[in-house]
Amino acid sequence: MRSHYCGELSAAQIGAAVALTGWVHRRRDHGGVIFLDVRDRTGIVQVVYDPDSEESFKIADRVRSEYVLRIAGRVRRRQEGAENPNMATGEIEVLGAELEVLNQSQTPPFGLDEYSDAGEDVRLRHRYLDLRRPEMQERLRIRARAASVVRRYLEEQGYWEVETPTLSRSTPEGARDYLVPSRTHPGQFFALPQSPQIYKQLLMMSGLDRYYQLARCYRDEDLRHDRQPEFTQIDIEASFVSEQDVMALTEGMIKRLFQEVRGIDLGDFPVLSWAEAMRRFGSDKPDLRNPLQLADIADLMAGVEFKVFSGPAKDQQGRVVALNAPGGGRLSRKAIDDLTEFVGRYGAKGLAYIKVNDRAGGLAGLQSPILKFLPERTVQEVLARVGAQNGDIIFFGAGKAGVVNDSMGALRNELGQVLGLVRDGFAPLWVVDWPLFEAAPNGSVAAVHHQFTRPKCSPEALLAAPLEAKAAAYDLVLNGYELGGGSLRIHTAEMQKAVFAAMNIANEGTVKFGFLLDALRYGCPPHGGIALGFDRLVMLLVGAGAIRDVIAFPKTQTAACPMLAAPAEVDEQQLRELHLRTRLQTTG
Ligand code: AMO
Ligand code: AMP
Repeated sequence: MRSHYCGELSAAQIGAAVALTGWVHRRRDHGGVIFLDVRDRTGIVQVVYDPDSEESFKIADRVRSEYVLRIAGRVRRRQEGAENPNMATGEIEVLGAELEVLNQSQTPPFGLDEYSDAGEDVRLRHRYLDLRRPEMQERLRIRARAASVVRRYLEEQGYWEVETPTLSRSTPEGARDYLVPSRTHPGQFFALPQSPQIYKQLLMMSGLDRYYQLARCYRDEDLRHDRQPEFTQIDIEASFVSEQDVMALTEGMIKRLFQEVRGIDLGDFPVLSWAEAMRRFGSDKPDLRNPLQLADIADLMAGVEFKVFSGPAKDQQGRVVALNAPGGGRLSRKAIDDLTEFVGRYGAKGLAYIKVNDRAGGLAGLQSPILKFLPERTVQEVLARVGAQNGDIIFFGAGKAGVVNDSMGALRNELGQVLGLVRDGFAPLWVVDWPLFEAAPNGSVAAVHHQFTRPKCSPEALLAAPLEAKAAAYDLVLNGYELGGGSLRIHTAEMQKAVFAAMNIANEGTVKFGFLLDALRYGCPPHGGIALGFDRLVMLLVGAGAIRDVIAFPKTQTAACPMLAAPAEVDEQQLRELHLRTRLQTTG
């Protein structure tokens, strides 16, 4: 039907007869001449109809936004002064000769230009229209491109793509499962996989050596801009590898991706230990584009009268930090109150601060509600430690280490934004040397990653002091997002049982993962891998604000699809076949 795509046309085709197909993006009537901006997935071209081609002109006069057209015409240079440098095809236009309406369109519920401010719900209800927007098409184009680069890279490295089941059993990634009732096994359920973790380990036990998959994963968890209930992972596993092997493979892949898709050289990724990341940034996924850092000051505060600081300073589990924000002296009283409320959401009991108006002026040059509680010498030592200068503000966090890290880490991000300190570009890093476990509310311990992660110690040492154990685990962080995580895995039944025992799930673990313990006893190779959030990766590649902008058909904030009205009720017969009855009281 067509000779060219709209967006392909350029000065090279001037004089050529072309046939185009596409949608009416905009129609303008310029007194006797009709301009149609015609759009397909490659871009937009201007087509002009004048009364000389009488028949077509009449049709052009009738077409409206989103009509589907077939056009025949000739490419010509635009008149001088009529060029549009903002348009890829802005040098030329097509003088239309023929015009066929392939289909009509009702008036769309929202404009399809870049600046459409239609609400999320309307856009998702008419996602097929939303996706016509050039911006959305570009994002999906880059997504496809990225998937192709990833596949090519991993295939070059000897990885095989293997599909794993999505009708599965509960997998341990820590979120709620989506369940699928079984018709053939009354009262029993499949779970949709939260990740292919178990299967990829079993593939290593099968001797496949190198596996990857662009895997669909399902997690029933609270949604945020970087979380969807179903999402895609670049899932990787390999046998006989070290942590460095997996990290080098992954780093090479991400670098190739940014190079090929965006022409950006990411350079070598810095490696930070988990402890250092927490110490300097209060976060295990720091945004390194933000120059702000936390400084420990417990040593300076242990002896002061001010209990808010000296208490945590003397507490083993406590932490006292200072965060100097250059230029933050301009923050108003109201802004500081808002920040105090902000850290309160992370459990902080308050937010002490010192404004540095004139550092040379001693205490008189400072402005703060806590000066009266602190010896001048201590204040001077704090100023020196954080390198404060005139015009800065220093914030303080004191309390349990967990709360201080969460609240001051979040404050660091917030201040970076508010004060405009976050640089452009990309800042990847590896976070390594993770603790294997964290304390769980019930007095036992929970896996920081998952319970198949290999500890860096012996089973005996693990059981003696579980919270001391380090994991052979690594996370990849990009611009403050956890892009991916992985680890070397446990490959002996003895170690796997020790981990279950440390977690107080010796019996449950043996029952639920008996097949895995068995498999470990039949010559399991040492292995490890990683999974990267593909949606997050594409979001960052294209500079979108949320992963739903790079997913063709995402779910809403409440995990629903307004277009298909899913989830939906099913009829009684279907429930009966599945041996189910809902507990909801039906009204009316
Ligand atoms: P993890 O649970 O860290 O590891 O998941 C890996 C990556 O998947 C992405 N991700 C998500 N993306 C969008 N929406 C979600 N709801 C969502 N949840 C996770 C994140 C995350 O870093 N099996 C292990 C990996 C391994 O050990 O190899 C796993 O799934 O970018
Ligand atoms: P208070 O003695 O509770 O009135 O607090 C005095 C100052 O210390 C106020 O500016 C509080 O915001 C601040 N503050 C209180 N608790 C903390 C805390 N845990 N960490 C940091 N600052 C705090």
